[in-house]
Amino acid sequence: METVVSGIRPTGNLHLGNYFGAVRNFLKMQNDYNCYFFIADYHSLTTHPTPEDLHGNVRQVLAEYLAAGLDPEKATIYIQSDLPEVAELTLLLNMNAYLGELERTTSFKDKARQQPDNVNAGLLTYPVLMAADIIIHHAQKVPVGKDQEQNLEMTRKFAARFNRIYNREYFPIPQPFNFGEALIKIPGLDGSGKMGKSEGNGLYLIDEPAVIRKKVMKAVTDTGPTEPNSEVSESVNNLFTIMSVVSKPETLDFFKEQYANCSIRYGDLKKQLAEDIIIFTEPIREKIKAIYADEVYLQKVVNMGKEKAHASASKTIREVRELIGFRSF
Ligand code: TRP
Repeated sequence: METVVSGIRPTGNLHLGNYFGAVRNFLKMQNDYNCYFFIADYHSLTTHPTPEDLHGNVRQVLAEYLAAGLDPEKATIYIQSDLPEVAELTLLLNMNAYLGELERTTSFKDKARQQPDNVNAGLLTYPVLMAADIIIHHAQKVPVGKDQEQNLEMTRKFAARFNRIYNREYFPIPQPFNFGEALIKIPGLDGSGKMGKSEGNGLYLIDEPAVIRKKVMKAVTDTGPTEPNSEVSESVNNLFTIMSVVSKPETLDFFKEQYANCSIRYGDLKKQLAEDIIIFTEPIREKIKAIYADEVYLQKVVNMGKEKAHASASKTIREVRELIGFRSF
């Protein structure tokens, strides 16, 4: 069975775009692959969180992914910093990662521009740490969005370089995971574009009903159809798209029909959409809260993941040390 590795940054909460995107992919992959999913807390240190924030964020993200369906019986779910082998492999890979190539990485250049007062070495070597995350489990596949493609390219380069230096096909060269059918992209409620954290237009799984109602009622629409069967504007189509994932098919058909015959009232559409989002997210929100509060369960999940991940990582480190020439006397 092929191995998949993916890291989850412990920043922010899951919104519907994440839920129908990355999370859905994880849920499919955990059934068919040997999956390692981890919370990337080493990576998050580049922004210098307080100890309380760091721990709280890791716990929140873990609770949200578990509530959304990540299954510790199927996938190995762990905390990156529980695997010091990753730090060791990073150090070793750093010796063959060159300043020039690290400085040329788009994400480094972006970060250096965004936070000119904190251009630390961790930012520069971020792709090396990510490579260590991936190859420590000999991953063949990595699910990556557009923003991580270059980092995966670096991983492939570092893995191939290691193999070349030590003259062994030791690390597989990981491929981007290719999802057969196209995923539904969840749009925002602000008229155009996707739902995203940085866009500030997220409908979050943890949003309380009152918050969801408020956000949906403020959604951008248009001035309404003036002739039958006219083309649906982007803003209204976005509401239909969200409806297509949270509402009953009849509900969507009903409002599309009303649009087509020009009798639609956007207030009614929004009210219905808000209620359907609430019905959809309510059980997940309750689960997030329950898991977040369940110290014993979280501890069990984390320990189980740590043990499984450690088994894989420690074998790699043992072999890498031997290959490099750290041999016992
Ligand atoms: N860099 C990824 C992000 O920002 C998170 C990540 C860290 C990751 N290590 C990884 C993703 C390894 C895939 C594989 O989203």
